[in-house]
Amino acid sequence: MNRSIKSIASWITLGLILIQFIPLRRINPPAVSDIKAPGPIKSILKKACYDCHSNSTRWSAPAYIAPISWVISSTVSSGRKVLNFSLWHNNNNAEIRQQKAEIQKVVSGSAAHQPLYYIWQPEAQLTVTEKQALLQWLNDSLQKQP
Ligand code: HEC
Repeated sequence: MNRSIKSIASWITLGLILIQFIPLRRINPPAVSDIKAPGPIKSILKKACYDCHSNSTRWSAPAYIAPISWVISSTVSSGRKVLNFSLWHNNNNAEIRQQKAEIQKVVSGSAAHQPLYYIWQPEAQLTVTEKQALLQWLNDSLQKQP
């Protein structure tokens, strides 16, 4: 019994070591048309959203350890696909309006967006004041823009 547990444990360890060699791309392509927003708003987005919704991801230590790295890397690519602040001005006005409206929904929503990430990185969590400032800016800019 004891021996078989030991042998299972060594296979698992060997497996964990081997999967570290599977190549994974953690790339940050250039930010060609980064969102233009007032300084404080940009800082809020950078702090809470840029890790998954921009090309300036801060890859944390677990992003280098398989298999957690696979989960992180696939979250970042799906995040970038739906919303990428680094390519923001590649969108036309209608697309920008729609993205702002979706951001409003996520920020004001009752269900937490990506809760695991904010548990892991509590410093990225928006404060009540930051949330209000972001929503205010979205609201104002949606009313101003054609
Ligand atoms: C840990 C990664 C991560 C972080 C941080 C993150 N998101 Fe997302 N977000 C995603 C992923 C992945 C999706 C794609 C679909 C999904 O899972 O909801 C997404 C989808 C979205 C969408 C599209 C609508 C939807 O609900 O699917 C919006 C808008 C959005 N995020 C806004 C934000 C904003 C604003 C922030 C910062 C306050 C933020 N996200 C932070 C990963 C993240």
